Amino acid sequence: MPDQRYMKDRTSLYVLFFGMVLIISLIILLLPYETVYVQDEAYLDTFLIVIVASVIVFFLGTLYNVLLWMEGKGLVGTPEGRLLRLLPRILKFVLSRRFGRILSVFLKDALYLSKLKGRSVLRWATHLLVLGGFAAMFLLDLLVTFSLDFLKYQPMIEDGGWAKLWIRDFGFELVGFMMLVGLTMATVRRFIFKPKILRTELPDATSILFLLAVVLGGFILEGMGIAGRIPGHQVDQAYSFLGYAFSQLMPGSAGQYYDQAWLIHGVMSALLIAYIPFSKLFHMIATPIAIEADKMLPTRVR
Ligand code: HEM
Repeated sequence: MPDQRYMKDRTSLYVLFFGMVLIISLIILLLPYETVYVQDEAYLDTFLIVIVASVIVFFLGTLYNVLLWMEGKGLVGTPEGRLLRLLPRILKFVLSRRFGRILSVFLKDALYLSKLKGRSVLRWATHLLVLGGFAAMFLLDLLVTFSLDFLKYQPMIEDGGWAKLWIRDFGFELVGFMMLVGLTMATVRRFIFKPKILRTELPDATSILFLLAVVLGGFILEGMGIAGRIPGHQVDQAYSFLGYAFSQLMPGSAGQYYDQAWLIHGVMSALLIAYIPFSKLFHMIATPIAIEADKMLPTRVR
């Protein structure tokens, strides 16, 4: 019975999908957050609700895109069924030896954009700074969250600790700075030079401006923390070199609004995450993955 099979595929896919989303949401909600800089718990709770909602939108948007790809011509069966049967193949592929080789080709093509380098060094550098900075910030975030909330690693927590200075302060600053430089280059190119080729070559204006607002907001927030000498910002401030420069332009009273600024920065980042599947940024990363996945898809589903 094709209808029954369709319902079974749909149910299995959605149970799997919502199970994964539930686990991620629970991890976000249950982390202890003992070392966050925001003081007011109501702000932290508001942020957690918004970020969980945004993560759900992010995954639903991603699933929607993937199911659209599964509607290819010449394929038999439902998109849900095709995706469901593709999952064990992907798992097998990830565990195979071929994966390492293909991953390095993918990183070179999609992240490092080796082909673009030959055509325009400026566009290549812009892309690498933004995407590389974003990827590095994500990895640093995972590392810092794990060290703080799971390991309670003291050098990452204490003022003057090597990990606090070099990873939490300098490391984030450096990758944020990379993004800021790349985004400024992209903004100047898009809004001042306006080259004709731009329509198809760069992520849409909303993605650039959204990211720029989040990154600038992060540095302003940090400047407010340093100017107001809030805990975690009282010594060795120069490791956060750009935040420190921003703090020099602010009065000490800026620290009184740190919690509000924290929430604004957090909510904007969450909204950015929710927006990703609907933006051109997503397609820049996902298209090369879709091409690889396509090769694994049989034209007739067994
Ligand atoms: C799209 C994701 C995000 C981007 C691109 C981003 C970008 C930045 C940048 C560039 C900075 C300044 C440099 C530094 O990191 O120290 C910053 C600071 C900060 N960000 Fe984000 N951020 C993002 C998400 C978040 C989220 C979800 C939170 C949690 C609420 C957050 C909390 C903070 C805090 C607390 C600081 C300042 C720390 C301080 O006062 O020293 N960020 N962010």
